[in-house]
Amino acid sequence: MPVKGLLHYALEVPDPVLGETFYKDFGLKETDNRGNSVQFKTSQGSGELLLYEGPKKRLHHIALAAPGDDFTAVRDALKAAGIPEIDPPNSAPQVGIWFNDPDGNLINVRQEERKTIAAEPLLDYNGPGNATRINRRGMPTFERAEPRRLGHVLFFTPDPDAATRFYTETLGFKISDRVPGILSFMRCSTDHHNIAVAKSTHRGFHHASYEVGSFDEVGMGGMWMREQGWEPAWGLGRHAIGSNVFYYIKDPWGSYAEYFHDIDYIPEDATWDAREWDPKYALYCWGPDVPSDFIINKEEV
Ligand SMILES: [Fe+2]
Repeated sequence: MPVKGLLHYALEVPDPVLGETFYKDFGLKETDNRGNSVQFKTSQGSGELLLYEGPKKRLHHIALAAPGDDFTAVRDALKAAGIPEIDPPNSAPQVGIWFNDPDGNLINVRQEERKTIAAEPLLDYNGPGNATRINRRGMPTFERAEPRRLGHVLFFTPDPDAATRFYTETLGFKISDRVPGILSFMRCSTDHHNIAVAKSTHRGFHHASYEVGSFDEVGMGGMWMREQGWEPAWGLGRHAIGSNVFYYIKDPWGSYAEYFHDIDYIPEDATWDAREWDPKYALYCWGPDVPSDFIINKEEV
């Protein structure tokens, strides 16, 4: 697959200072606010989120990794598909290829390796007849989450099938699971999904998701955010598609930031049984009911 990873996403927001407070409470660290964007990183990553000031919240752009020859392959595929390369906006990093996806989302492909993080020690659990945490309390001793890396983003699109065709046929993503005509989950790495799209009347940004170190950390992170006064959105629960445990917090503009742990891992050369799901069973195995407004595009047209 020519594209090998999701590097970062950038949002335009009406109040970057409020955004800073939200994402710092969420556990990201500010790295740079010298230019016209504020940049944040996870504990193991670098610059996965950029906030630009703008009249309303919307996606500014996403950046994808295409190392070595993959970069040339993306350039050739865009040309073959008749998708023109465009100049980057003045405000954006002036690197790589820039173009619009079929919905007008701005995409930046860079000749870079995907980001990787150091392996952490296996977690100790006490299972039936199989205790690995011996003579030690299991309750968490930390208060909040420390996102390790960016995992995925989900956009709204008026045409999930067309968006899926573009990301798979032109950028080389693989389909991991679909709810035909409604949802499509695609990967460009070993994560079950790096980009997902959901049906709406128009494009929009729904959420970005960050990996944390344990189920406890998903729960503790959600509780910390509630205590800081942010609105819990959905969780704690376990997704059906992707299998990850999740907790979603509403950001100040009606989209979401998600903590995740234990997402399905699919080696690049593995055969994966991509399924077509009934919407009734697609979203979660357990957890609170899905909030009625959770998959509503709150961005204006
Ligand atoms: Fe997610």
